[in-house]
Amino acid sequence: METKIIKIKNIIEDRNKILEAGNLLKQGGLVAFPTETVYGLGGDALDARAADKIYEAKGRPSDNPLIVHIASKEDVKEVAREISPLGDRVMEVFWPGPLTLIFRKQERVPKSTTGGLDTVAVRMPGHLLARELIRAGGGFIAAPSANLSGRPSPTKASHVEEDLNGRVDMILDGGDCEIGLESSILDLSVSPPILLRPGGITQDMIEAVIGPIQVSSQTKETTVAKAPGMKYRHYAPKGELTIVEGEEMQVVSMIVKKVKEVQRQGKKVGILASEETKSFYPKEFVKSVGTRRKEATIANQLFDVLRQFDQEEVDYIYSESFPEGKLGFAIMNRLLKAASHRVIELEKGREGE
Ligand code: TXA
Ligand code: MG
Repeated sequence: METKIIKIKNIIEDRNKILEAGNLLKQGGLVAFPTETVYGLGGDALDARAADKIYEAKGRPSDNPLIVHIASKEDVKEVAREISPLGDRVMEVFWPGPLTLIFRKQERVPKSTTGGLDTVAVRMPGHLLARELIRAGGGFIAAPSANLSGRPSPTKASHVEEDLNGRVDMILDGGDCEIGLESSILDLSVSPPILLRPGGITQDMIEAVIGPIQVSSQTKETTVAKAPGMKYRHYAPKGELTIVEGEEMQVVSMIVKKVKEVQRQGKKVGILASEETKSFYPKEFVKSVGTRRKEATIANQLFDVLRQFDQEEVDYIYSESFPEGKLGFAIMNRLLKAASHRVIELEKGREGE
């Protein structure tokens, strides 16, 4: 199929283009669109066939449920039931924004959308264009990240084009995503609520509003999958990624040593570092992902940098690690997944290995 790529500069001047995209959605078509987190691949959430098409376009297993995106808070009741006072409070404070909530589902949401589950994930994005499109498309848009299954989530329209050109009806290019990591996911269908995926809205921020929640052990990593998406290999670059943890200069010398080993094998290598440390590495291999003084910059560029390594067909990537502070927890969660948990831990005061 031919994919229309449409640039949206301004939601008022480009109104007709948004309406055209909305009509495509209403007719069961697929439209990729930007949100404040990552680009989503949208289809009508209440149309089982649209959900099936999404799975097919992404090459995603159909038991991995989709998030239903809405444009106004009241609409949550149309797709979710048994919304507790806790749920009301969380929505009041964090919506619109990068937080997905899981509730028991209403009958009208097809099981294809929820991957066979009795619960539904709902999010009201903060991105204006996203909300306008959702409205134009009928109000309930299922949208996983707009990448091929197993690739890093797209944070630019060009990433979506790379993965999905020819597989979807339209890509709305609304510029780069502001956050760059997917939404936090909070399961409110259980008590106490469980944070299934860390993101821009952190555990502390949620607890300040509704009191103690649990953090899924799978975010800290076990094999049991509660958010079904967690059981698949995710965010994976083509090259083999290893994270090196430890004291700064020890990390640098370990990475430099690994780089030499890879070169000796005649393979291609990449280094993922920060503004503060990039000058310690050979220029031709290193990419800075952002500054350690502002972790939002790292979140913002992480997936893009991983994709750049893919394009350069690097065989091995060595990455510094980042402190697991606020956003840092989400950053390390994605990085560890991308690395399939390959980590070299250097002990303090020792040469390493
Ligand atoms: O920021 C985001 O959340 C982006 C943008 C486009 O909104 N979307 C996104 O969707 O990241 P996706 O499909 O890539 O990730 C959704 C995750 C999956 O891991 C899925 O298993 C989980 O949410 N999920 C969806 N519905 C669920 C449910 N009912 N119960 C548990 N987990 C669910
Ligand atoms: Mg995804």
